[in-house]
Amino acid sequence: MEQIVSDALVFFGATGDLAYKQIFPSLQRLAKRGKLKGPVVGVAKAGWTLDDLKNRCRDSIAKHGGIDPEGLEKLLNCLRYVDGDYNDPATFSQVRHELGGAKHPLHYLAIPPSLFVRVVQQLKQSGNADGARIVVEKPFGHSVETAAALNHAIHEVFPEEAIFRIDHYLGKNPVQNLIFFRFANSFLEPIWNRQYVESVQITMAESFDIQGRGSFYDSVGAIRDVVQNHMMQLVSNIAMEPPPCPDVETLRDERVKVLKSIKPITADDVVLGQFDGYLDEPGVRPNSGIETYAAMRLNINSWRWRDVPFFIRTGKSLNKTATEIIAKLRQTPAVFSDKLTPQNYVRFRLSPEPVVAIGGSVKEAGDALRGCMVELKASQQCGTSDLLPYEELLEDAMRGNPVWFAREDYVEESWRLLDPLLKDLPKVHTYKKGSWGPEAANELVRDVGGWLNPV
Ligand code: BG6
Repeated sequence: MEQIVSDALVFFGATGDLAYKQIFPSLQRLAKRGKLKGPVVGVAKAGWTLDDLKNRCRDSIAKHGGIDPEGLEKLLNCLRYVDGDYNDPATFSQVRHELGGAKHPLHYLAIPPSLFVRVVQQLKQSGNADGARIVVEKPFGHSVETAAALNHAIHEVFPEEAIFRIDHYLGKNPVQNLIFFRFANSFLEPIWNRQYVESVQITMAESFDIQGRGSFYDSVGAIRDVVQNHMMQLVSNIAMEPPPCPDVETLRDERVKVLKSIKPITADDVVLGQFDGYLDEPGVRPNSGIETYAAMRLNINSWRWRDVPFFIRTGKSLNKTATEIIAKLRQTPAVFSDKLTPQNYVRFRLSPEPVVAIGGSVKEAGDALRGCMVELKASQQCGTSDLLPYEELLEDAMRGNPVWFAREDYVEESWRLLDPLLKDLPKVHTYKKGSWGPEAANELVRDVGGWLNPV
């Protein structure tokens, strides 16, 4: 059945950081492509006017991607602003008024999670939820219980097919390509399993620190900020089975099944760290024990992956900014001499530049009967489309396409995995800014030859 396209967009948190860095630039591009139907209503409590919001919008776009005069003009023409408290029903009456004749608005909650339920209830009471869809930002919950409670509260107002839990990682082409590349290439698919893959490492390293987000970051830490969502999405994409039929829910089922087959993670499989100087950051609690680095071992208990260790690690103020997945392939017996050849691998570089590479062994030139490593490397991008993650996801949500959004069971499963760990966290080690994290994390990967740092 043809999906209804949302005929208006309301974004709560219009004066916030996310709107500034991500939403306005994406809206400009959607406006330019003619994808914004009807009014775009920003809502916040800042004592602002529509002109203030327009100035903020211009400034945001100038700093994040650049102004496109045609796109900007189109966006500014449909921009509206409602200034008001989320507890005040008058704010939501005003939203209704600004929506004019729109019957199927998309409401986007780019606000602190503590306000989600309040806004959802107000949307219902004001009639703004009728025929509408809702996009909910991360973090979706704080634990398995809070995620389930939030799902329950939103379901009181919106059916599951109208709820879009956003994770911008899923809007990135290199992240979607993990699934595509695996199943579209007959040289890779047959070896992508326990018989050929020895271990897998996923690194999401950031060389920058918490960038002034102290009070937010100190209430979440690395596990809740990026492991439960972005990193689990990567694990799902590289470990899932091929969907047996090409519909959206089947694909989402397969992604959930990966999480269901992972053994809940406990402190024994985890090393946490905090960069030196974190406690001096504004907004951070004195003596905070929150982690800015997390490394863990996952056991995926499926036929495809049993006994293949998966390692994930992420951190702030590390040596480099790069997100990369490397699967080490099993060693062949020695060729010519008794010296083993360098081990093959498959490397997916997701950012900053997308690359797929295969590490192989060739014979060294000259008399030596040994192998040396060469990399067959391809830029992962083909085609001309360069959609921003939020641009693509907002467009999908407006068209009612949930494929790159987390389903109810997905978020609850991802919290379930982390639940034992979050209830009993291990010691947090200090590490130096610019390093690759705490020394203690090297122990985790000793058996598989150490960490493979992105270069
Ligand atoms: C956000 C986290 O969700 O993702 C940030 O809150 C993190 O801490 C960011 O830096 C990473 O996203 P990207 O797209 O810049 O890799």
